[in-house]
Amino acid sequence: MAQLWGGRFEKATDDMVYAFNASINFDKRLLREDITGSRVHAKMLAKQGIISDDECSQIVDGLDRILSDVESGSLIITEEYEDVHSFVEATLTDRIGDAGKKLHTGRSRNDQVALDMRLYTRGRVEAMADRLTDIMKAILSIMEKNIDTYMPGFTHLQKAQPVTLAHHMGAYFEMFKRDRERMASIRERMNYCPLGSGALAGTTYPLDREYVAEELGFDRGPTPNSMDGVSDRDYLIEFLSALSTVMMHLSRFSEEIIIWNSDEYRFVDIDDAYSTGSSIMPQKKNPDIAELVRGKTGRVYGALMSLLTTMKGIPLAYNKDMQEDKEMAFDAMDTAENCLILFTGMLETMRFNDKVMEASATRGFTNATDAADYLVKNGVPFRDAHGIIGRLVLYCIEEKCAIDDVPLEKLQEFSPKFGEDIYDAISLRTCVDRRLTVGAPGHEVMEEYIKKCAEEV
Ligand code: ARG
Repeated sequence: MAQLWGGRFEKATDDMVYAFNASINFDKRLLREDITGSRVHAKMLAKQGIISDDECSQIVDGLDRILSDVESGSLIITEEYEDVHSFVEATLTDRIGDAGKKLHTGRSRNDQVALDMRLYTRGRVEAMADRLTDIMKAILSIMEKNIDTYMPGFTHLQKAQPVTLAHHMGAYFEMFKRDRERMASIRERMNYCPLGSGALAGTTYPLDREYVAEELGFDRGPTPNSMDGVSDRDYLIEFLSALSTVMMHLSRFSEEIIIWNSDEYRFVDIDDAYSTGSSIMPQKKNPDIAELVRGKTGRVYGALMSLLTTMKGIPLAYNKDMQEDKEMAFDAMDTAENCLILFTGMLETMRFNDKVMEASATRGFTNATDAADYLVKNGVPFRDAHGIIGRLVLYCIEEKCAIDDVPLEKLQEFSPKFGEDIYDAISLRTCVDRRLTVGAPGHEVMEEYIKKCAEEV
């Protein structure tokens, strides 16, 4: 066992206690951030005359060697160490001697871990924003090809009014754009440097916290309160919340693709590379990736609830509870990022059956509102028009036909205001292309909208 403390203890730690307390198994993923922070800390200590320049260069070289040796596999992080911070300091001291023992001057593991986690999370926030741009690009490319691909729009999963595939996809473009904005605002708000907060109350050494913050790219400077600096995990909660929202969006999208890919719909075909089979039913090709993305949403929500609950009862400042901020958060970050990557791949390779979508849009009275609007334009009050078309739909259901199939003389029995131009007024193309309000699926509006979307990616 290699730990950074022990002077005031008379007995060794119980084995099970040691294992229960240790975090090395999961915080070893912070190695790079730990070393980055320690390099800057050492350089700052030397600049302030707290350690010598020679000690500083021994420390910095030693840290660099530890990182490259771990990355090349010649140095293994073992469970003998309590956490990644202990591993780095103990290995450094083994290798360079006394200078290594000076690295922790004016620093606590509390501000060290706060720094490592913030640096790591900031990187993952940035990566997430990039993955969101990738999915926005994939959606945009579907939109560009499908401005005139008609499909039914649904409410209550019942056909409602005709839209286009481009319009439907645009809704997801907006969701992921908001997700990306959330990433940017989290990054901005979190960008304070906690190093130099000490255990909780700062330190008596003349640390240059501004220098450290600047070297590490924290443009908002050092955290303004040292107790908050070591015990703030808001940024992580915000990130988990934003990831949960991304997953919620992906899950809704997955649900639609699962429905669209079903034999009853056949709106889309998922590529073989993104489908799986059944061990017993030879005919099956299942949308497992979409189902797994929908399923994994629960895990990410779980990480958010877990951290919120962990944090809710913690008195100031650092308490060991906070070590629980890592495992589930790491899992949530990996899960959300992988889901986004896989989902984007599935989207890029998916085939849309435009004929099937269009045929579906022509059934189910998706043009009933437009038929009512036609009567309104010919002087019938909307509420009366609504009633007339309702009775017409009932007639069509009995006759098993569409409104478009009813001859003009018959239509005129429902209302004398029907004229020959009704058929064009309720055609799929007219229903869609007359919808020219901002945000609607009409061809001209969509073209303008897609141009704006292209500027976002
Ligand atoms: N492994 C700890 C964590 O992840 C590091 C900080 C430990 N500090 C302490 N005083 N025990 O939170």
